[in-house]
Amino acid sequence: MATFTLPANSKITQGKTWPQPSNAKRTKTFKIYRWDPDSGSNPRLDTYHIDLDDCGPMVLDALIKIKNEIDPTLTFRRSCREGVCGSCAMNIDGTNTLACTKNMEDIAGEVKVYPLPHQPVVKDLVPDLNQAYAQLAMIEPWLKTTTPAPERERLQSPEERAKLDGLWECILCFCCTTACPSYWWNGERYLGPAVLLQAYRWLADSRDEFIGERLDQLEDPFRLYRCHTIMNCTKTCPKGLNPAKAIAEIKKLMVERKG
Ligand code: SF4
Ligand code: SF4
Ligand code: FES
Repeated sequence: MATFTLPANSKITQGKTWPQPSNAKRTKTFKIYRWDPDSGSNPRLDTYHIDLDDCGPMVLDALIKIKNEIDPTLTFRRSCREGVCGSCAMNIDGTNTLACTKNMEDIAGEVKVYPLPHQPVVKDLVPDLNQAYAQLAMIEPWLKTTTPAPERERLQSPEERAKLDGLWECILCFCCTTACPSYWWNGERYLGPAVLLQAYRWLADSRDEFIGERLDQLEDPFRLYRCHTIMNCTKTCPKGLNPAKAIAEIKKLMVERKG
């Protein structure tokens, strides 16, 4: 399916309001962004009501219930439903996060749900992340070596392994990248916090033998240095990681190698 970016003058209009569930004692209202680029219509916000006593606790539970029982045309990504795959990332109540780990009860009033911001939209809550994935491929996120493989495995000391903590846990949800103003304005050339955290994950790996080449690739006015330490990335990461710190560590390695 083709993806489109909204024309600048597009307005989000008020869409359909679906009926309240019958006999519900506790309900939650959802306002959900809907847009099908193939329709030629402007985006709209549809309103749904969920019976909280007949639904799981998370925003993803509500989205699945809406899709299964109210409106099968609602489109979103999800897979693991436990904060591991990163596919249900979206903007909920103004913050980029994972629908499967966001508890509805933590949101006062109605729940507003939009796709991750500043990305082309494939449909409804599905952003087009092709650019971010191409950038990830560019940093070659795998172990690179020149020495022959040992008979069993490349060993690390516990201290060397500990340096990867806070990095390996990244689930590539791109909540951070799509919250970063530098990425909004320069996303075609700036790699963004998720990819830079991945880049540092391999720079910090004692077994990797391509540190020089990896740094050469990042030594560029846009790829790395567009980070202005605004910290939106760290604030929004649903896994509690600190991409801004990883970026600072890469900059430190750049300075150190210049001696
Ligand atoms: S700290 Fe850097 S990467 Fe993070 S939001 Fe700010 S500019 Fe973007
Ligand atoms: S650093 Fe956090 S927000 Fe960014 S992609 Fe990884 S898990 Fe998602
Ligand atoms: S469904 Fe996998 S992280 Fe939410």
